Amino acid sequence: MTDSRHTPRMSADDWDEQNFPRPAENDFDRVVERALSRRGFLGAALVFGSGAAVMGPGFLTGAARAQTAAGPAAAFPFKPIPIATDGTIQVPAGYEWRVLTAWGEPIFPDVPEFDHATGGSLDTSDKVFGENTDGMEFFVIGDRRVIAVNHEYVNPKVNLPQATDGVPRDAADVRKLQNLQGVSVIEVADGPQGWSVVKDSPLNRRIDHNTPMTIAGPAAGHALMRTAADATGTTALGTLNNCGSGRTPWGTYLTCEENFNSYFGATGVLPTEGAVAEGYARYGIAAAGSGYDYHKWDPRFDVTATPNEPHRAGWVVEIDPADPASVPVKRTALGRFKHENAECVVAPDGRVVVYLGDDERGEFLYRFVSAGTFVQGGDTAALLDEGQLYVARFNDDMSGTWVALTPEATGMDAATIAIFTRQAASRVGATTMDRPEWVAVNPLKPEAYCALTNNKNRGVKPNEGGDATPVGGANPREANHYGQIVRWRPAGGDHAADGFDWDLYVMAGNPTVHQDAYAGSANINPGNLFNSPDGMAVDQTGLVWIQTDGEDTNEGDFAGMGNNQMLCGHPDTGEIVRFLTGPKGAEVTGLCWSDDRRTMFVGIQHPEGTFPAPEGTTGVLPRSAVVAVRRADGGLVG
Ligand code: FEO
Ligand code: CA
Ligand code: CA
Ligand code: CA
Repeated sequence: MTDSRHTPRMSADDWDEQNFPRPAENDFDRVVERALSRRGFLGAALVFGSGAAVMGPGFLTGAARAQTAAGPAAAFPFKPIPIATDGTIQVPAGYEWRVLTAWGEPIFPDVPEFDHATGGSLDTSDKVFGENTDGMEFFVIGDRRVIAVNHEYVNPKVNLPQATDGVPRDAADVRKLQNLQGVSVIEVADGPQGWSVVKDSPLNRRIDHNTPMTIAGPAAGHALMRTAADATGTTALGTLNNCGSGRTPWGTYLTCEENFNSYFGATGVLPTEGAVAEGYARYGIAAAGSGYDYHKWDPRFDVTATPNEPHRAGWVVEIDPADPASVPVKRTALGRFKHENAECVVAPDGRVVVYLGDDERGEFLYRFVSAGTFVQGGDTAALLDEGQLYVARFNDDMSGTWVALTPEATGMDAATIAIFTRQAASRVGATTMDRPEWVAVNPLKPEAYCALTNNKNRGVKPNEGGDATPVGGANPREANHYGQIVRWRPAGGDHAADGFDWDLYVMAGNPTVHQDAYAGSANINPGNLFNSPDGMAVDQTGLVWIQTDGEDTNEGDFAGMGNNQMLCGHPDTGEIVRFLTGPKGAEVTGLCWSDDRRTMFVGIQHPEGTFPAPEGTTGVLPRSAVVAVRRADGGLVG
């Protein structure tokens, strides 16, 4: 593509990928190409089924796949639905959905209704629901119900309809874009018309690209964190590219900064030597920026003027949804990378474990274990500041190890490990992964899942740090464009243990097109085709919910997959069925449940067309939205 700006149909992940093209070919590419042509394609794939790990060709078509297709659908409380290619949402019979809120909807009193001609004014852009909803969590605070929800990125063409070609025209345009991203905290209430936003709630809050934050943990105060505006390196403005989410055991919200690099650019020449230059290269800071043009209007995003500012993004940020005056805290102990989500679980001894994916081709999967233990009602202030960060090594024999990123192991000090986590992980030989997206922990038994969304570079070229991306193990397919979900079970049932066993819960694929590994694992059949798993959550009954962010052309390799969707998997049988289809062009991302589990909130990001207005409506902008899904009979939905 030559267009340098967002189009409505592109996810932030795709945007980052498009805008940071690496050299098309280098010497390493040629070496790998020769190696691949000699080796042929793919060794053993590992597929889980019927409660046991199965070695060998678990991706075969035929009787086994048909049997899976006819499996125990009774395990699911709904009748699976077919694919869709339309511009709206489909759910199973007996279910219904309605929009809770959408980009531009007022979340405070006395804010004008959304104006499709302008995309809303600058003045009210920090008083409306932000754009491109993503990770979200539901909280009960006293007698109030609150959702904290991320706004990952903007599409300037959509969000600035009056700017030619979507290019910000001035500082005001940039400020409006900055205001539309970040996080919304909204009180919600159920009523005769369903769930709605309580606009006059004292808990409602917008956090955006300019909200003051505190920096805590090992990187706080380090020279690489200091700027002219913050000589202490302990305060930052804004949280950037808020993708997946998490919730702590003590009831705070974790928002995860993913493709933060895309907001930065340079009015001068980028450095070519030294730690800063190496970091820019590894994390994708480019002089040209990526179309937001922040750096032309806001010097904080011009790395020529403010070279350390990018170090102050790429973190997990903790927000207290119960206190709208609280200052969000960047928790640097959890590492700096393109964070997807932050899945928390308490280990048997009370230590807090946080699983963290780095969503870029050939990057890594991480785990943080707190030094202290969580006690209900106790002091939690240091739990995410003091502890150990680990990176995963997946062995081909289906065992795995969490490797501690210590100064001894990496040759880096604690602050630098936090700031340049990717380089630290490269130094300990971590396993390069097929783009780790969300991690989800099963609340009913000690196991966790991670969506590895796809990786066109698998077996083709190294990651940005030069680490090889061999085909095999948990990443078993070359040029993997379908994705898979890896699952691990911690040693002794303890998420804080350093060993684990793993298997592949599913390899997405297309058995109607391919007869080899690209057909997918045995639990893929013509009735449940999908690609690019991304959002994940395991509900209170142990069902595994899978959201997709992939190709929705419904053609070629993706024939029969339709629009992006949400599926439901059984943890033991491996059966997977389709629950919801999103509107054309959209990604389905973000999932939480009401406290009575009778409503499921689902995020619809970057729709095209007219969504959420009915197809055929004229004069409307497509808008990301959170929808509430429930059963018509009021039954449980998770
Ligand atoms: Fe924002 Fe990797 O998804
Ligand atoms: Ca996205
Ligand atoms: Ca995602
Ligand atoms: Ca994605």
